[in-house]
Amino acid sequence: MSKRDIIMIVLGLIVVAVLWAAPDETTPHLPMDDTHKEFHQIVKQDGKKAAEKFCKDCHGQPGMEFPPDHPDPNRCLFCHKATP
Ligand code: HEC
Ligand code: HEC
Repeated sequence: MSKRDIIMIVLGLIVVAVLWAAPDETTPHLPMDDTHKEFHQIVKQDGKKAAEKFCKDCHGQPGMEFPPDHPDPNRCLFCHKATP
């Protein structure tokens, strides 16, 4: 094997490792149910910021508190993707 082959193999392994470690897709998406259907529409028509205004009408209210380890709940749709 030439030095060049070895470099190519190492580069290939790095790419695979990065893709492997990359985005942690455990954050639940914006559900596609009757409650949230209209927000998918708003995201499509007017963007995420317009839709996010409504989230706190329910989430964070008494009885629907965020889990204690939930990150600062703003810009919901940055983390909770509206795409399936
Ligand atoms: C009318 C009340 C209401 C509004 C407004 C609302 N939600 Fe919800 N949401 C719920 C209820 C009830 C649940 C739990 C049952 C369910 O999944 O529908 C829930 C569940 C969720 C979940 C958890 C899904 C899971 O897999 O655990 C996420 C994420 C979520 N909502 C995000 C949002 C975001 C982002 C917005 C704003 C765009 C929003 N919700 C607006 C009522 C609401
Ligand atoms: C910085 C990223 C981030 C932002 C911003 C964010 N969330 Fe979350 N959210 C998460 C993560 C990560 C989880 C999973 C936490 C866990 O399972 O403990 C989660 C979980 C949830 C859940 C599910 C809770 C459950 O009991 O299962 C709901 C509902 C939710 N978020 C709603 C919202 C709403 C509404 C907003 C905006 C007001 C918001 N989130 C903003 C990252 C975020």
